[in-house]
Amino acid sequence: MSYTDKMLRDDALKGKVIVVTGGGSGLGKAMTKYFLELGAQVAITSRDLEKLKTTANELETETGGKCLPLQCDVRHYEEVENMLQEVLKAFGKVDVLLNNAAGNFISPTERLSANAFDTVIDIVLKGTKNCTLAFGKHWIDTKQSATILNIVTTYAWTGSAYVVPSATAKAGVLAMTRSLAVEWAKYGIRSNAIAPGPFPTKGAWDRLLPGDLAEKFDMAKKVPLKRVGDHQELANLAAYLVSDFSAYINGDVITIDGGEWLKGAGQFNLLEAIPEELWDQLEMMIKAKKNK
Ligand code: COA
Repeated sequence: MSYTDKMLRDDALKGKVIVVTGGGSGLGKAMTKYFLELGAQVAITSRDLEKLKTTANELETETGGKCLPLQCDVRHYEEVENMLQEVLKAFGKVDVLLNNAAGNFISPTERLSANAFDTVIDIVLKGTKNCTLAFGKHWIDTKQSATILNIVTTYAWTGSAYVVPSATAKAGVLAMTRSLAVEWAKYGIRSNAIAPGPFPTKGAWDRLLPGDLAEKFDMAKKVPLKRVGDHQELANLAAYLVSDFSAYINGDVITIDGGEWLKGAGQFNLLEAIPEELWDQLEMMIKAKKNK
């Protein structure tokens, strides 16, 4: 068995209708593919309809499942409401909302225009709010139990320099996840989040580590497990969290980062750079002092 294997049984998502925002590429596409393989019907949304159509065709051919491409800019509430209506028209219901669409870029904060800051907040926080509110109202009105899964990041709670709009927005999404987990549980709506560490995708990597930065800052080196994540590992976790196997998990954020964020946090973690021989000398020095 390997961590790149598919985890759940083949019919784990049979009968479920799932909406994946930002499902046309990257991690959204990887999760969509696995949901289709597990028997779900999936609507993928983004601003770029042509890209969505190409992805939907590719995934339908590969999996034999049903994938519906829908244009929707999550920043605009009326577009989200229209998207929901299209999903209901096509599939008759919706069981899962995966808030995956995001926008991000690296920059010293003082170099950002007010509009640049807003753009990221609008996609990540307002977009997640728009989808969550529209779908939540529908589920509550129709008395349908459902699941919300939000993709956040470990810097939602640590904060991170140079991606301040994203950190600010993701912190809001995490607060929304935990708040609604309690408030909407009475309607049978679960809310959870995943905080992924480095899972390379072309889009995010080109954007966040442009030029030769990807070589200069080898993300695998920051991870105690000394590797980046495999897309299937994230898809396995997401499929579990939207499936009924996780029916008792509500309000949690599950970190999948090989220990990356904790490595940055522990005060003495930098001592990892000390080689074995030096530890021998240090031990002798420390013990010698104690014996004086
Ligand atoms: N650094 C600083 N400012 C930037 C920037 C950067 N790298 N990229 C865009 N901006 C600014 C623009 O200058 C503009 O501000 P201004 O009007 O004051 O000049 C503002 O952000 C909006 O840019 P625009 O290109 O009009 O926005 P958009 O809605 O078309 O694009 C982005 C949204 C900027 C997030 C774009 O990168 C995008 O669509 N990304 C795709 C999804 C994504 O980022 N996924 C996340 C993977 S981690």
